[in-house]
Amino acid sequence: RTVAVILAGGTGTRLGLGIPKQLLKIAGKPIIEHTLAVFEAAPEIDEIIVLMAAGHVPDAERIVANAGFRKVSKVIEGGDTRNDTTRIALDAVGEGDVNILFHDAVRPLVSARIVRECVNALWSYSAVDVAIPSADTIIQVDQDECITDIPVRATLRRGQTPQAFRSGIIREAYRRAEGDPDFAATDDCGVVLRYLPGTPIKVIDGSDENIKVTHPVDVHLADKLFQLAAAQVPKVSGHRGYTEELTGRTIVVFGG
Ligand code: CTP
Repeated sequence: RTVAVILAGGTGTRLGLGIPKQLLKIAGKPIIEHTLAVFEAAPEIDEIIVLMAAGHVPDAERIVANAGFRKVSKVIEGGDTRNDTTRIALDAVGEGDVNILFHDAVRPLVSARIVRECVNALWSYSAVDVAIPSADTIIQVDQDECITDIPVRATLRRGQTPQAFRSGIIREAYRRAEGDPDFAATDDCGVVLRYLPGTPIKVIDGSDENIKVTHPVDVHLADKLFQLAAAQVPKVSGHRGYTEELTGRTIVVFGG
């Protein structure tokens, strides 16, 4: 059994809208509805659990009911931090050996290909991450904003979601993390890396389109990407276009 956990427990302070950003409408639908639609349609996913920001569970329930998402079994309240939300989700998934995919509700442009490759990788690995190469050089700084290190770019990736696990591994990692007063993590693979060192965590290719709506500019970007996805553009074989992942079609832009 494979369960998708949609993490929507945040309030979106960096976007600063006054409502959780996952409820913001882009391309005619709340962000979380776009996200849920991908998992609802994925044949690899059997069940979906939604973890929603406090006070907004009824909003999410309404979206699920209106869209008729049949795989959604529960909509429950998330926790104070993303990792707290993950912990609550692990309890909600219940006992037994299952595959769990954790996905940010605010990455509505995740593709069917990424979901499929995450689930497939769980045949060989107990933890799977999704990432893309970094176009920018990544620098490390100290408290004074002075550079302390410039890691070799070719070895760096930018982490996205989903992050996928066999349930035994992620439960054990969180169980060990429980007793650690210094616990700090921004994602779930980080918990496995820290508390179950030596566990291979496979990285599969994400996509440039799988953005996390975080800052105001991301709203415009996501809107444009949905527009491109909806555009009916004939496929030109042999070229890899920007919207290929979303549409199965390819846009080729000729310069000059
Ligand atoms: N998230 C969650 N529970 C929390 C915090 C975050 O489930 N307590 C989820 C968010 O809803 C989002 C994902 O984790 O889908 C990624 O987090 P982020 O982009 O940081 O979202 P917010 O916490 O909402 O944003 P901000 O940090 O700007 O407040």
